[in-house]
Amino acid sequence: MSTTPAVIAIDGPAASGKSTVGKLVARKLGFLLFDTGALYRAVTLAALTRGIPVDDEERIEDLARSIHIDLIPATQNDGRPYTVLVDGQDVTWGIRSEAVDAHVSTVSAYPGVRQALKKQQRRIAQKGGVVMVGRDIGTVVFPEAPLKVYLDASPQERARRRCEELQARGEAADYEAILAGVRHRDEIDSTRATAPLKIAPDAQVIHTDHLTIEQVVDAIVRLARERMAHTAPSTLSRQ
Ligand code: DC
Repeated sequence: MSTTPAVIAIDGPAASGKSTVGKLVARKLGFLLFDTGALYRAVTLAALTRGIPVDDEERIEDLARSIHIDLIPATQNDGRPYTVLVDGQDVTWGIRSEAVDAHVSTVSAYPGVRQALKKQQRRIAQKGGVVMVGRDIGTVVFPEAPLKVYLDASPQERARRRCEELQARGEAADYEAILAGVRHRDEIDSTRATAPLKIAPDAQVIHTDHLTIEQVVDAIVRLARERMAHTAPSTLSRQ
C-alpha cells in the first residue's frame, strides 16, 4: 500500500497570504505549488464568459463537470506563478479579475462544483511533494496531510494587502470596497453548507497580521522538516 504522500495543506480566508506563502514554501522544499482556488476561479470565469447566470446552480454544476482545467508551468514571463488553461485557452489573468472575485464564492458553494473539483485535487496530491493552498484542504480534500497550516489575518490587513497587490499590477484599488468584499467572501466561505472554511483540529494556526512573509515561510518550512522527516525524507530533499 502507498505511504502518506508529502502534502502540506495551507488553508485560510481570502487574502490571508496563502498563495504568496505557499509559493515560497514550495520553492524552499522543492515541492510543487497547487493553488486550488484557481480551479474555482476558472469555473466562475467560464460561466461569466458563456453567459451562464451564477445563480443557476444546475448549469454551473454541469459546466464544472464538462470543462477541462489545467495548471501547467508558467508559459510566459509576466510574473505569473503558473499558467491556467480552460479547454486549452490561457485564462491565467482573467481568473484574477474583479468580476471573478465578486462571484467565485457563490460558485464554490455549490456541492456539485466542489465534488467535480475534489477528485482532480486528490489525484494531484497523491503524487506527493505538493503544497496545496485552499479553504478545505486539511478538512475535506486531504485530511491525511502530514502537515496542515491555517493562515489567518484580520479583514483590515487582508484588504490592505489585496489593495497593494492590485496597485502593484497598475489596477485601481478602493480600500473600503475591497474590505467589504473580503468580509462578504468570509461570510459565504465560512457559512456554506458544503466544506465551509474552518480550522482542522490538528492544524497549526498562524496569525500573520504582525509577521513578515519570511517569518511565516520559515515557520512552515521548519514545521514541514520536523513533521515530514519520518514520512517522506526523499521528497523533502528533491530539487
Ligand atoms: O484563494 P482564492 O481567493 O483564489 O479562492 C477563490 C474562491 O474559491 C474563494 O471564494 C473560496 C473558493 N475556494 C474554495 O472554496 N475551496 C478551495 N479549496 C479553494 C478556494
